[in-house]
Amino acid sequence: MSRKITGATLVAGVAGAPVRHSLSPIIHNAWIEAAGLDAVYVPFAPSSDGFRRFADGLRGGVVRGLNVTVPFKEDALAIADELSERAALAGAVNLLVFAADGRIHGDNTDGLGLLGAFAAQAPGFDPAAGPVAIIGAGGAARGAAAAFVTAGAPEVRIVNRTLAKAEGIGEALGAKVRAFSLDAAARAFDGVTAVINATSAGLLDASLDLPLEATPSPAVVMDMTYKPLETPLLARARELERRTVDGLEMLVRQAVPSFEAFFGRTPPAAVDVRALCLAAIGGQA
Ligand code: ATR
Repeated sequence: MSRKITGATLVAGVAGAPVRHSLSPIIHNAWIEAAGLDAVYVPFAPSSDGFRRFADGLRGGVVRGLNVTVPFKEDALAIADELSERAALAGAVNLLVFAADGRIHGDNTDGLGLLGAFAAQAPGFDPAAGPVAIIGAGGAARGAAAAFVTAGAPEVRIVNRTLAKAEGIGEALGAKVRAFSLDAAARAFDGVTAVINATSAGLLDASLDLPLEATPSPAVVMDMTYKPLETPLLARARELERRTVDGLEMLVRQAVPSFEAFFGRTPPAAVDVRALCLAAIGGQA
């Protein structure tokens, strides 16, 4: 990169620990460069108990905003002075914007990323057309459930190892959400339009053997994990001739509204940030 940093360069970034392998700097800096902006997007790695102090120090907008990743999403939710409706519903914040008046706005762009990934890789998929099943009951699962409820899904089935956590999402999001234990996955998959893996590590471990054959053949299978790009779950889905959506597409799509919040313009469409990310994670197609 041969961009010059000037006295007027705008700064935004991503905070996480570790943040070293984040793909967000690759995505945002490619867009910044293609748009010819005098701006830079940098990684920040506060200590595990230092995020709030760090973010507090940015009040006023010395840094325009931050994407927030593991393990700081809960701190980000707590430090925000106000939340967008979608962040409140998701119970999670992945974007903080530092206003000039000192206030911190919390937002969540993961839901848009998720639905955008479906639109891109499973054209014609309609989130309102039938029930969907989500595996996992952590923050990522709740965010996905909130996005589908908002998009009009008639039923969202949360399938989780720990049933009580799945029930907790139902309490937060209302009657359209139903909880299932993992051993009831086949029942949860009956008649769904989509299955989404939102567990952190679980399904990389092929021992978690989900009965994908219980889904109807038009169902779409999505995995939020993108390392590897084709997870064991997506490989199995392809064997069964189900359409698939990958987690890298979600990552790229959630970055779009973040870029807009930082820099007040849409990212240039001409730059293929997905290809840049693929090159960075090892070149799988
Ligand atoms: P995040 O906030 O990123 O969603 P999390 O809160 O740690 O992450 O949630 C991870 C989810 O993955 C949980 O629902 C967890 O199941 P439990 O609620 O039973 O702990 C699920 N998970 C992780 N590893 C798993 C595995 N090997 N098998 C099944 N579920 C797993």
